[in-house]
Amino acid sequence: RNSKRQVECRRDISWLDAPFLAIYESLIPAEEEKAKQNQLLTLLEKHVRKEWPNAKLYLYGSCANTFGVSKSDIDVCLATDDLNVNKSEMLLKLADILQSDNLQDVQALTRARVPIVKLMDPATGISCDICINNVLAVVNTKLLRDYAEIDVRLRQLAFLVKHWAKSRGVNETYQGTLSSYAYVLMCIHFLQQRNPPILPCLQSMKTTYAVTVDDIKCAFFDQVERLRDFGARNNENISKLLWGFFNYWAYCHDYANHVISVRTGCILRKEEKDWTRRIGNDRHLICIEDPFETSHDLGRVVDKRSIRVLREEFERAAEIMQYDPNPCVTLFEPY
Ligand code: CTP
Ligand code: MG
Repeated sequence: RNSKRQVECRRDISWLDAPFLAIYESLIPAEEEKAKQNQLLTLLEKHVRKEWPNAKLYLYGSCANTFGVSKSDIDVCLATDDLNVNKSEMLLKLADILQSDNLQDVQALTRARVPIVKLMDPATGISCDICINNVLAVVNTKLLRDYAEIDVRLRQLAFLVKHWAKSRGVNETYQGTLSSYAYVLMCIHFLQQRNPPILPCLQSMKTTYAVTVDDIKCAFFDQVERLRDFGARNNENISKLLWGFFNYWAYCHDYANHVISVRTGCILRKEEKDWTRRIGNDRHLICIEDPFETSHDLGRVVDKRSIRVLREEFERAAEIMQYDPNPCVTLFEPY
């Protein structure tokens, strides 16, 4: 693997910029999708207010972080000021209320890792998951959205990486591969590491936004409109970046020792985090630090089998970018 480590792609791939950008554009949701999402949110709010007048609903995840492709499900967080709520009871009650309306397939999944109510709204065709008091997810959604505003190359890269991961079956946390959230963090970190950097590290800049959630202090610079030229000294285009991303995860990342950290904009060592051995089900075979829940490794779902699958997919993608006559097709071929 080390022998394949390289800083430059072996061929000029700038001819791939236009077709990759065309794929990116085709994945962007149309404006009317946003309107439909808001229509559903308004409907849900109406129901929730009747039972819990002080509750607020927030969109989080891909529908709110600008990394959502068209026709995604939406993620909703119901925030109450009552911190001692029994989430299961509340979800069952919520499911009950929503069932009585025109909503379909309403189900309370109270035993999931993140307990939710799932439903489908026939009026808009949108499926939705509602969780309770998952405020950290709302805050990390803002962090991702703010990063996306700094340089459009992040959104381009993340859309293509997510599209690749979904096509190749490596975006399935229940099968031991990575969440979309993890892939976006990998893209942000990769762009923080370019030389010159394409993204700054918002959490190590002056604090302009701060909230404390579940005893975790979340603070970062969020006046991102002032950072619009941040990456201007770097002129790398999407093909080069996509190749660089796969090449990094295929041949350059030190899986045995390193942790990627968007929070610090640096690579940390596993020892610093005490992530050197398996504890319970957390194996730390690929380490991606959550920007706020810093004890949380987003790679913890990865096991001995799925790490091989993942690394083989990174290598396949890097080889395709390098040698394949038609990467825009081959990269996304179903597995
Ligand atoms: N999330 C989190 N911690 C995780 C996984 C997810 O906090 N380990 C939160 C994040 O706020 C993330 C949201 O849950 O934005 C949704 O996660 P995920 O489904 O992985 O990402 P989406 O951006 O919604 O991707 P997709 O388009 O695949 O639905
Ligand atoms: Mg989602």
